[in-house]
Amino acid sequence: MRRYGPIGVGISIMIGMLPVLWASACSTGLRESVLPPIVTNKVSQATAVGIEVCSDCHSAEPDFYRKGHHRVAFFAGSAGTGCESCHGKGSVHAEFFYENEEYEDDPSDLVGIEDLDALSGHERSALCQQCHQQDFPLWPLSDHAQSGVGCWDCHADDLHAPPPGIDATPAVMNAQSDNAFCVQCHSSVDAEFKLQYHHRVPEGQMKCADCHSIHGEATADSALHGENTRCYECHAEFKGPFVFEHLGTEESCGNCHSPHGSVNNKLLVANDNSLCVQCHFQSPTGFFGRQPHAEFLGGGALCYDCHSHVHGSNTNRNLNPRRF
Ligand code: HEC
Ligand code: HEC
Ligand code: HEC
Ligand code: HEC
Ligand code: HEC
Ligand code: HEC
Ligand code: HEC
Ligand code: HEC
Ligand code: HEC
Ligand code: HEC
Repeated sequence: MRRYGPIGVGISIMIGMLPVLWASACSTGLRESVLPPIVTNKVSQATAVGIEVCSDCHSAEPDFYRKGHHRVAFFAGSAGTGCESCHGKGSVHAEFFYENEEYEDDPSDLVGIEDLDALSGHERSALCQQCHQQDFPLWPLSDHAQSGVGCWDCHADDLHAPPPGIDATPAVMNAQSDNAFCVQCHSSVDAEFKLQYHHRVPEGQMKCADCHSIHGEATADSALHGENTRCYECHAEFKGPFVFEHLGTEESCGNCHSPHGSVNNKLLVANDNSLCVQCHFQSPTGFFGRQPHAEFLGGGALCYDCHSHVHGSNTNRNLNPRRF
């Protein structure tokens, strides 16, 4: 008895489009993963020497990495991974300093600070994606990538040393997953979570990432506009299928709920019948469809006092009005 409204059609179109989405994701992904030429080309005669050679003169950076997530990747890897995956092959640089210990000018014989600072956000992310491409193949589709936010904006601590004053423990090697981190850039969201009714994000019982994709997902929309999938993961009782679906709900939970927070109980976007009449037309004589309602609504009743199964019903087409 399921009714195939516009939503059913929408979903099948999306499924049909998935291969296309994946294909375009992969090709953009690959393009982005191509290293900035400067990293591969700057010193063409150089060869890879490996991180232990770099450690010989630079102790701070390797010490930092040894405590963190990259301790395996950068140290057990062959020459050319680790430091040299971003700074380019280092033999010329290393030989130069072995022979000229007193020399203090910026070396031009490897990919240095100036070269790296000149890279765009996309190019910098590509430095990370040369190894993390498989973790996040859809990164280029994420809202973050598309707005120029790069790995480095969130994972700065994964590089060399944390900002001054922060202890370099392995814990800070992962992006701080707590919500305070995200709201540094999304302050209006922070304000929504401070409203009286909210998901328990400020209390630390939920994370932004429970609802949002940070690194990109198979839907192009990591902001979940109109997407109920994440909601169903915790509120499975509203998933259905119901014998009688309420199309207003199937379409998006956000039609009636503010997902972050609200001044209204149950996170409702409105605490009166404007919640329902945004979609349901009441005739001048008080009818909804064929049903007179003037009397029903006289005493200030709420629509869902009677239409109590607004998320879907297995027993009543009118979402349970007979049992009010
Ligand atoms: C994922 C890319 C990446 C890797 C891997 C990497 N670096 Fe860097 N490094 C950078 C970038 C980018 C900068 C420029 C400064 C910045 O933005 O943090 C930099 C700057 C530096 C500097 C100058 C910065 C300063 O504070 O004086 C040194 C020295 C350095 N790196 C050494 C190393 C060594 C040694 C390793 C291996 C243990 C290494 N780097 C691994 C990207 C990387
Ligand atoms: C024989 C010593 C020696 C070795 C080996 C060595 N470096 Fe250096 N490196 C230096 C010195 C000296 C400087 C210039 C002074 C400084 O910035 O500390 C320097 C500077 C740098 C810088 C800063 C460049 C800039 O733009 O200012 C980076 C990045 C760097 N080295 C990376 C590496 C990497 C990666 C390796 C391994 C492939 C390596 N070094 C091996 C001695 C060495
Ligand atoms: C040379 C390859 C390489 C590069 C370049 C690289 N990574 Fe990694 N990274 C790895 C590998 C491999 C692991 C998994 C380590 C393990 O499981 O032992 C890892 C682990 C991590 C982790 C922790 C993952 C976890 O499971 O908790 C983070 C976060 C991370 N990398 C971020 C970055 C960022 C950001 C950059 C760029 C600034 C970067 N990486 C550059 C290879 C690399
Ligand atoms: C908007 C901030 C942000 C950006 C941009 C970002 N990350 Fe993350 N990343 C996080 C957070 C937060 C986590 C922890 C995820 C969690 O708690 O579920 C994380 C986790 C990770 C992990 C651990 C593995 C995992 O799935 O938990 C890796 C590896 C990683 N990021 C690499 C990257 C790379 C590579 C890029 C760029 C292509 C990147 N990140 C861009 C915030 C970010
Ligand atoms: C360095 C700043 C920065 C950080 C940190 C950051 N973001 Fe973003 N985020 C942005 C920018 C810029 C955009 C694109 C512009 C916009 O829509 O606000 C964006 C977009 C988004 C969107 C899509 C919004 C839309 O309207 O389509 C979501 C969802 C999001 N971020 C969640 C997160 C989460 C979750 C975290 C923490 C892991 C986080 N952001 C951390 C800068 C940041
Ligand atoms: C309970 C699920 C849920 C949680 C938890 C959540 N969000 Fe959202 N968020 C949503 C939904 C759903 C939307 C889309 C709202 C819409 O389309 O009207 C959204 C929209 C957004 C947007 C874009 C629109 C806006 O309001 O600016 C940003 C940015 C965002 N969220 C960031 C965050 C951050 C940062 C956190 C953690 C502090 C977070 N969200 C936690 C569900 C959630
Ligand atoms: C990670 C699990 C999780 C996800 C995902 C989630 N919720 Fe919730 N939600 C909860 C929990 C737990 C509560 C109860 C909160 C409390 O006790 O304050 C709740 C409460 C609610 C409430 C009722 C609030 C009240 O006052 O009783 C609404 C409405 C709601 N969620 C809607 C949504 C919507 C819409 C989405 C998707 C955008 C969503 N939730 C995603 C866990 C989740
Ligand atoms: C057409 C409007 C509408 C839509 C769309 C809607 N809801 Fe609701 N929801 C309500 C109303 C009204 C209430 C309050 C009912 C009450 O207090 O009796 C409610 C209550 C809730 C509650 C609290 C239940 C409780 O027992 O306290 C949760 C959780 C919830 N909704 C989740 C969702 C989720 C998840 C979606 C998307 C699948 C969704 N809602 C879509 C109108 C809606
Ligand atoms: C986002 C738009 C939207 C919102 C908001 C909405 N609805 Fe609906 N509703 C629909 C659609 C579309 C249908 C299916 C239309 C139809 O069958 O005539 C429907 C059907 C119904 C039906 C069954 C009608 C019938 O002909 O049997 C009832 C009852 C109903 N809604 C009550 C409510 C109540 C109560 C609220 C407020 C809590 C509400 N709706 C909010 C869109 C919405
Ligand atoms: C006092 C109870 C009550 C209240 C309050 C109420 N309704 Fe109804 N509603 C009913 C009954 C009874 C029916 C007819 C059921 C039937 O035909 O079996 C109905 C039917 C409907 C229908 C379907 C009409 C059709 O043609 O089949 C819609 C749509 C509807 N109501 C919307 C609303 C909206 C929107 C509100 C709030 C503005 C609301 N109702 C408030 C009891 C109520």
